Amino acid sequence: MRVITPIKEMQEISEKLRREGKIISFVPTMGYLHQGHLSLMEEGKKRGDILVISIFVNPTQFGRGEDYAVYPRDLERDKRLAESVGVDIVFTPSESEMYPKAYQTYVQVEEVTKNLCGISRPTHFRGVATVVAKLFNIVKPHISIFGEKDFQQLVTIRQMVRDLHYDIEIVGMPTCREEDGIAMSSRNTYLNPEEKKAALSLYRSLKRASALFLSGENKAETILREVRNIIEAEKIITVDYIKICDTGHLQDLDIVDREAVVALAVRIGKTRLIDNLVLKPAR
Ligand code: PAJ
Repeated sequence: MRVITPIKEMQEISEKLRREGKIISFVPTMGYLHQGHLSLMEEGKKRGDILVISIFVNPTQFGRGEDYAVYPRDLERDKRLAESVGVDIVFTPSESEMYPKAYQTYVQVEEVTKNLCGISRPTHFRGVATVVAKLFNIVKPHISIFGEKDFQQLVTIRQMVRDLHYDIEIVGMPTCREEDGIAMSSRNTYLNPEEKKAALSLYRSLKRASALFLSGENKAETILREVRNIIEAEKIITVDYIKICDTGHLQDLDIVDREAVVALAVRIGKTRLIDNLVLKPAR
C-alpha cells in the first residue's frame, strides 16, 4: 500500500493507471476509520482494479464553532485498517496544498442542499461538493463510493456529478450500525456512556417510523410525531430536525406516496449526530 501526499504525484499515478487500462475506484474519507468506511472500501475493491482512498479533514465543510479543530485523527491506525481491506493507495493531501492562500473556487449544488442539514449548516455542502470535486480531479476515478448514512451528501454528490458531467459512477452503500443499532460514525467517540445510551433512541425511532409506514400509515405528520416522542423521551437530546422527504429532491412530504427518507439530526451534549432510514412503498 502506498501513501501519497503531493497532489501532482497522485495525479500522475492515476493518469498512468488509466493509460494501463486499470479501473480506479475511490472512497473519500476524513479518516478515523470504522467499519462503515471499510464496507465502502470492500465494495470499491470488488468493483475496481485499483482502490484509492483519501484521508483529509476538509476545513471548508465545517462551520464556525463546529468541531474541525477537535475532529478525531489517527493516521497510523487508519493506515493499518486500510491495508487490512486491501487499499492500494492512501491519498493524504496537505491542507496548504488543497487550499493555498489564494484559493477562490467553490462548487455550490443549489436545491438539494437547502433542506435538512443545509438549514443549520448553510455552508457545509458547499465545502463537501468543493472538496469532492477537487478530489475527483486529482484521483480521476471511474467509480466512487459513498455511504447512505450521509444521505443528503450522497444526493448532493450525485447531482454534482450529473450537472458537471463527471464521467464517474457513484455508488451508495447502506449504513453500517453497531450491534445496538447506533450508526457508526467517527463522531461517536465524543459520546460518554450516558450519551451513547440516549443515542440508541435514534435508530429505535427510525424503526418505529418504518413499522408504522409498513402497517399503512402514510401521513408524515403522524409518523414524525411518534419519532419525535421516542427521541424527546431522552432528556439530554435536542432535536435539530426530523423530516420525511422524497429521496430524489429532498423536499418535505406530507403524504408518503413515493420512496422517502426519514432523516434526523440531533444534538447530544456537544455532539451532533445524524441518521436516516428509507421508506419504500410496496408496489
Ligand atoms: P466521512 O464522515 O469520513 O465519511 C466518509 C464516507 O463514509 C462517506 O461516504 C460516509 O457516508 C461514509 N460513512 C460514514 N459512516 C458510515 C456508516 N456508518 N455506514 C456506511 N458508510 C458510512 O463524509 C465524509 O467523510 C466527508 O464529507 C467527505 C465525503 C470525505 C468529504 O470531505
